[in-house]
Amino acid sequence: MNRIFSGVQPTGNLHLGNYLGAIRNWVRLQEDFDCIFCVVDMHAITVFQDPAALRTSTREVAAAMIASGIDPKANIIFNQSRNPSHAELAWVFNCVARLGWLNRMTQFKEKAGKNKENASVGLYAYPNLMAADILAYKATHVPVGEDQKQHLELTRDIATKFNNDFQVDLFPLPEPQIFGTATRVMSLRDGTKKMSKSDPSALSRISMTDDADTIAKKIRKAKTDPEPLPDNKDGFEGRPEAANLMGIYAALDDTDLDAVIAQYGGQQFSTFKQALADLAVAKLGPIGDEMQRLMDDSGHLDAILEDGGQRARAITQPILKEVYEVVGFLG
Ligand code: TRP
Repeated sequence: MNRIFSGVQPTGNLHLGNYLGAIRNWVRLQEDFDCIFCVVDMHAITVFQDPAALRTSTREVAAAMIASGIDPKANIIFNQSRNPSHAELAWVFNCVARLGWLNRMTQFKEKAGKNKENASVGLYAYPNLMAADILAYKATHVPVGEDQKQHLELTRDIATKFNNDFQVDLFPLPEPQIFGTATRVMSLRDGTKKMSKSDPSALSRISMTDDADTIAKKIRKAKTDPEPLPDNKDGFEGRPEAANLMGIYAALDDTDLDAVIAQYGGQQFSTFKQALADLAVAKLGPIGDEMQRLMDDSGHLDAILEDGGQRARAITQPILKEVYEVVGFLG
């Protein structure tokens, strides 16, 4: 049986890049798989989080998934800390993974920066918790971006070592689930930089909760160049903004770049921007409205997460019991 597990950090300020690069792909996964979508609040606190902001961001990510079309009844949506199995298995994996393995993790090096001595132990052990997230469900497929591939490799190493050390065949080796269609969305102010929640300019990104006027304004003000739009792919050379805006159009319209070039190649940016703004408002407006509605009723949203958490626990508790027996714990 195939089971998908995916974790997403509770970052506030979800934007078009999060939607087209990740969330929208998960919506499609639910057609073919049993999916578990986990808002990883325990991973979030590996660097300090303001408690109130963490609660809000956790709800915002859950609301974004639901508003985008993930069905929380057919799938499981919950926040990580509701299921203690993650922490329990992570401890076992702390004792399986080797220091040398974690020392090679490039994300730790990036996040810890120069002052490694001052990084939290949790940040260092982060990949072990991620392995626990996945393996507590015996998940077989994990949708991950490029930046998480090394962590997934480590997950496979941990599963292999556990199975070998205890001479069991308990954990499957999870495979990355790669998307052909994931779109890399760049900043609206600089087509060479990724769209980011931390960019100081709000004009650089379209937030998932922006209203129609704001979406249209940001697209109108998006950086362009003086030439008409290219009429073939080679024409994107040296024109990152044209490539980005046409790429966004293609993704939102569920078509490919060739189709957008065929329709708008050779035209002025002004005409195209109007069409892109209309399309973006039509696609994102209803999602933003629904997110807002869900966030305004946090009691209802929390009940969905609690229900998801219970169903998550029902899957992992027997697996944890199996692990504890194999390790030699009494109980
Ligand atoms: N580390 C992932 C990220 O930063 C989030 C994550 C945590 C995750 N646990 C996971 C992703 C398990 C996939 C599976 O994006």
